[in-house]
Amino acid sequence: MKKIDVCLTPELLHQYDLEHKIVVVVDILRATSCMVSGLANGVKEIVPVSTLEECKALQDVGYLAAAERDGSKAEGFDMGNSPFEYMSEKVKGQKVAVTTTNGTLAIHKSLAAKEILIGAFLNLKALTDYLINKEEDIVVLCAGWKGKFNLEDTLFAGALCNQLKSKFEFACDAPLAAEAMYITAKKDMMRYMNDSSHAKRLAKLSVVKDIEFCIQESIYEVIPYLSGKSLLPLKS
Ligand code: MLT
Repeated sequence: MKKIDVCLTPELLHQYDLEHKIVVVVDILRATSCMVSGLANGVKEIVPVSTLEECKALQDVGYLAAAERDGSKAEGFDMGNSPFEYMSEKVKGQKVAVTTTNGTLAIHKSLAAKEILIGAFLNLKALTDYLINKEEDIVVLCAGWKGKFNLEDTLFAGALCNQLKSKFEFACDAPLAAEAMYITAKKDMMRYMNDSSHAKRLAKLSVVKDIEFCIQESIYEVIPYLSGKSLLPLKS
């Protein structure tokens, strides 16, 4: 039986063989929520890069440049990392270069995978419908926070594992734990999320509305996938 696994932080990724596998990268607050929102709202393509310098170089050749560090917009760039910025008229039809504290790094650590998809609560059902009939094993990579575990990405991993368990065997205890957390949290996700360290970090930056937005389930159909250096909408 095909398997689903959860890598709780990129620091553990060396324990996982990604060859021939589908990796779903998740960074609920807020990188992958932004990527899903952007492609769902008319952004032409999104190029995730690891450094501010790479992002600046793409800005210099005409990309809209989104850069976030420690939850705040980095100085000298066009956008920060709020999903609401990815819904504005100015991004429609544009190419966006993006670098964030954890999310874009996680994507670049997954390049050995057969297929890299972007997951968020926002596209949970679309992702489930696409993955349920795939033959490849799946690894859900939680972007975490600077190498550490975080709550929100693991909750998403648990939600996806719960949706796919009829066709995918849990590869180890991480999917089991993630699913159990999600089943508990979903009764009152906002209350559960308010205890997370990144939600508290963002609340200090008065971006609570981003948290409320990012925990909505299945409001978008789009599944971003990595094609070369760009994230594009998957045509399923
Ligand atoms: C991340 O890269 O961890 C997040 O996107 C940071 C944020 O948007 O606050």
